[in-house]
Amino acid sequence: MENQWRHVSVFHLLFFFILTGIQVVQSSPHYYHHHRRLGGRLSKLFVFGDSYADTGNNQKPVARSWKVPYGITFPGKPAGRFSDGRVLTDYVASFLGIKTPVEWRKMEANRLRYGPYGINFAFGGTGVFDTVVAPDRNITMTKQIDFFQQLIHDGVYSKLDLDSSVALVSLAGNDYTTYSARNGSTEGLSNFTASIINQLAINMKRIHDMGVKKVAVTAVEPFGCLPANSVLSSYQQCNETNNKISIFHNLLLQQAVEKLNNETNESTFIILDLYNAFISTFERQKDHPGSLKYVNPLKPCCVGITTKDLCGEKDENGVAKYTVCQDPESAFFWDDVHPSQEGWHAVSSALQNSLQQLSL
Ligand SMILES: *[C@@H]1O[C@H](CO)[C@@H](O)[C@H](O)[C@H]1NC(C)=O
Ligand SMILES: *[C@@H]1O[C@H](CO)[C@@H](O)[C@H](O)[C@H]1NC(C)=O
Ligand SMILES: *[C@@H]1O[C@H](CO)[C@@H](O)[C@H](O)[C@H]1NC(C)=O
Ligand SMILES: *[C@@H]1O[C@H](CO)[C@@H](O)[C@H](O)[C@H]1NC(C)=O
Ligand SMILES: *[C@@H]1O[C@H](CO)[C@@H](O)[C@H](O)[C@H]1NC(C)=O
Ligand SMILES: *[C@@H]1O[C@H](CO)[C@@H](O)[C@H](O)[C@H]1NC(C)=O
Repeated sequence: MENQWRHVSVFHLLFFFILTGIQVVQSSPHYYHHHRRLGGRLSKLFVFGDSYADTGNNQKPVARSWKVPYGITFPGKPAGRFSDGRVLTDYVASFLGIKTPVEWRKMEANRLRYGPYGINFAFGGTGVFDTVVAPDRNITMTKQIDFFQQLIHDGVYSKLDLDSSVALVSLAGNDYTTYSARNGSTEGLSNFTASIINQLAINMKRIHDMGVKKVAVTAVEPFGCLPANSVLSSYQQCNETNNKISIFHNLLLQQAVEKLNNETNESTFIILDLYNAFISTFERQKDHPGSLKYVNPLKPCCVGITTKDLCGEKDENGVAKYTVCQDPESAFFWDDVHPSQEGWHAVSSALQNSLQQLSL
């Protein structure tokens, strides 16, 4: 395996998830028109992980998810999502026929104890291990699960509640960003992947052992297709070298999930394969040029003016260091690493079969 990584400069991963941000998004209660209740039982959704799932847990002054132009499509202003609008969590909740669960941070701020649709513990920028960026980012997935465990310990959620609960676990790459920022060696990368998967499996098992019936986990997206990487080819192609890191991660994840499912009798653990959902969305575009919305699926809507600038940044004079496309719906990616609402919509459609397995 080591040979495979020899030429992989993990440096490019550095740009992943320079994510931060927070403030609780006040999700408006009625934005879904297609509620679909699966199995007839109302589910609660507990969410763990990073910016692909965070709906507003990061700190407001820090995170770009709280800065213009984030949130311009939904809810119309920056509200803590790393997108122009809705993210994976919103679509998974919608699929389950429930509202987007409340953010943990908002509950803390308002001294609420109970989220009727579950709770979102996900923090942009985090991973299974400590990550390098921003103050909130030491809220590792382990810490997020600790918060959940405390609520269960306090009797906030009963066994009956948990019996109709499912979990979404998002891990999109911040651990790799950190590995790269700490000058981790290319040779050591496959071992690092193994340690990530090992910790991730421990986390998933822990969530299930607390009583949550089903646990869906993301397989990582194709790293080489993220605009932060494809910018090197002017967004013309995915970097296959970096995609191999994703493929290896997802292979180990699949083995770990098979093992976990072997230990329970049902298919308790479900993979949401972001890799193939992203790629199939790109491919559909290629097969039917003009019939889909994306002009070029690899080119983000919000893009820094120079390669050092990020979406949402301003200079000392308050002048934007980024440009925004005219129609965010025409872009799969919103910024250098995050899908747009339209992108998440397409990805969620591609994940329908897996999401079906979440039904209780
Ligand atoms: C792909 O990424 C690798 C490592 O990050 C880099 O060395 C290579 O030049 C990239 N290839 C292209 C076509 O951008
Ligand atoms: C994260 O680190 C900051 C600063 O080091 C600290 O104030 C905060 O309590 C830590 N948060 C958690 C959840 O450990
Ligand atoms: C990583 O390498 C860069 C350049 O070689 C150096 O500037 C930086 O201090 C190193 N970082 C760590 C955490 O060792
Ligand atoms: C990877 O892990 C194996 C087994 O733990 C160890 O023998 C090997 O030296 C490690 N490789 C690197 C590059 O760290
Ligand atoms: C799961 O169990 C089956 C049969 O009991 C076995 O063949 C298979 O190898 C196991 N898979 C893993 C990943 O342990
Ligand atoms: C699996 O099923 C067997 C027999 O039906 C039962 O004895 C066992 O407790 C079950 N194990 C789990 C983890 O549910």
